[in-house]
Amino acid sequence: METIRKMNAMQKISDGLRRKGKRIGLVPTMGYLHDAHLSLVRKARESCDSVVVSIFVNPTQFVPGEDFEKYPRDEEGDKAKLDQGGVDFLFIPEAEEMYPPRYQTFVDVLEVSKGLCGDFRPGHFRGVATVVAKLFNIVKPHVAVFGEKDYQQLLVIKRMVEDLNFDIQIIPGALVRENDGIAMSSRNTYLAPEERQRALILYRSLLKGKDLFESGEKKVSVLSKAVRETIESADGATLQYVEIRDAETLEEIKNVDHPALIAVAAMVGSVRLIDNIIIGTSE
Ligand code: PAJ
Repeated sequence: METIRKMNAMQKISDGLRRKGKRIGLVPTMGYLHDAHLSLVRKARESCDSVVVSIFVNPTQFVPGEDFEKYPRDEEGDKAKLDQGGVDFLFIPEAEEMYPPRYQTFVDVLEVSKGLCGDFRPGHFRGVATVVAKLFNIVKPHVAVFGEKDYQQLLVIKRMVEDLNFDIQIIPGALVRENDGIAMSSRNTYLAPEERQRALILYRSLLKGKDLFESGEKKVSVLSKAVRETIESADGATLQYVEIRDAETLEEIKNVDHPALIAVAAMVGSVRLIDNIIIGTSE
């Protein structure tokens, strides 16, 4: 695996690969990698000749007061995992080159960025869309893979790609969980053992909603109340939101007649966790 730090070096490599007719797949990350990231690498590999993983803890997507400074970092550990995972290129840009002093251009995906995490992290999706647009122009991939764990992010990127005519195929990667059900996340490392136990309530609440739906309840108000009450009745998780939205557009719905997303966010101690599940699919 080759590590690249400069933007023009990455662009040259991608130009060369494209000239040779190679299909490039990109998996953007912020590092501190786990098995879910590696599942996205495998997904990219299925349809690409060269797989590029980027690691960049993007300052513009952290809201003031969030964990930018203390976001976990482990370059050596990440390199070993990516090497093992058969990644061809690791792109680790420098913050000063990504955002030089006169930097002033941002991408705002208006509607899909509203609600859910957008309400609790104002400006977050603007930072995400901006850095992903930059990574697309630097790595020039044919395909990019994003996880369904960050479901709203996935839809923001899909919307941006369509609206700004990026010639890139966005492939979703399934949400990956630990054995006990908690969604894998680099931020799980912040959880003390006892908080880790409390965090299980997020997935349990989603299963509660899914079970209720499968037993015949279609009303969003009833389903979301059940999910909300499951979290609120448990000790030690402070709910931020429960939302049940159209899984394709994230628009608000009253009844689940089409595939829908149940998304939750909660604070466990000082750690913000999100999780989601899709209901109403034919599978
Ligand atoms: P990061 O949180 O490192 O996640 C990188 C990718 O891994 C994202 O597409 C995310 O959805 C996916 N991912 C993380 N945990 C997952 C899980 N348990 N199951 C499935 N996929 C999972 O998301 C970001 O970084 C950043 O916002 C980024 C897109 C890199 C822009 O800075």
